[in-house]
Amino acid sequence: MTSRIDLEHRIAVVTGGGKGIGRAICERFLDSGATIAIWDRDPALAARTATELKGRGPAFAFQVQVEDYGSVERGRDATLKALGRIDILVNNAGIGGPIGDTFDYPLEAWRRVFAVNLDGAFHCCRALVPHMIAGNYGRIVNIASIAGKEGNPRMAAYSASKAALIALTKSLGKELAGYDIAVNCITPSSAKTDLLKDFTADFVKTMLAKVPRGRFVALEEIAAMAAFCASSECSFTTGAVFDISGGRATY
Ligand SMILES: NC(=O)c1ccc[n+]([C@@H]2O[C@H](COP(=O)([O-])OP(=O)(O)OC[C@H]3O[C@@H](n4cnc5c(N)ncnc54)[C@H](O)[C@@H]3O)[C@@H](O)[C@H]2O)c1
Repeated sequence: MTSRIDLEHRIAVVTGGGKGIGRAICERFLDSGATIAIWDRDPALAARTATELKGRGPAFAFQVQVEDYGSVERGRDATLKALGRIDILVNNAGIGGPIGDTFDYPLEAWRRVFAVNLDGAFHCCRALVPHMIAGNYGRIVNIASIAGKEGNPRMAAYSASKAALIALTKSLGKELAGYDIAVNCITPSSAKTDLLKDFTADFVKTMLAKVPRGRFVALEEIAAMAAFCASSECSFTTGAVFDISGGRATY
């Protein structure tokens, strides 16, 4: 049984909303009354998801590659043209990258992980914050990771990109504190999505063993936390890190 979080009349952009955690966030937001713009690099997936979700509420698909600033600007312009306003931004698009020792990590993979996980979120904030300032309203929710707090071994690129996303959240939260704009991030532990395909079964087992709850976090549990952070009730907290790691990190 879920409690109702009120996102009535809100318009939300969810990057990487085509599947996994992003899709679960779209579902929860729709159930809460929001209109959803799925920004995904995979246009067929985004369109299919939007169609499948239409029974729950208004969902629209846009092809956006978050690491490409021009693509983000085009996505913003198309979304504003179609929906008129953007109240909520969920920076969820992210990739795991290969597992490997830092000292011989492939240079190209390192740069790609940062381009998507960090530059992507920065690009979306840069493109949308002026619009939020103009309306004196916004909620930004960054999907970081427990890896960004703890630093998982053999995942330095992913962990460092998520740590940087946490710092981006703190900086931007402070910069925008004079407006009714909240910028927060959440730090999930392992969830069962296609992102885990980058990792071996043994690696996932090791990560799960660190979680006192002893299980994967459900996508719906992450979506519930994102929904609160995206709501007008999240009106004081900003620049904060909401932990959702089943007890792994208690800070
Ligand atoms: N799954 C986990 O265990 C876990 C844990 C903590 C944090 N996270 C974070 O949650 C977020 C979502 O992960 P997921 O597990 O749902 O992954 P996923 O692979 O299931 O889904 C990712 C979605 O993002 C889209 N995407 C990827 N790169 C993109 C880009 N450059 N531009 C636009 N869209 C892009 C994909 O097409 C896909 O729809 C990521 O930021 C991830 O780091 C995941």
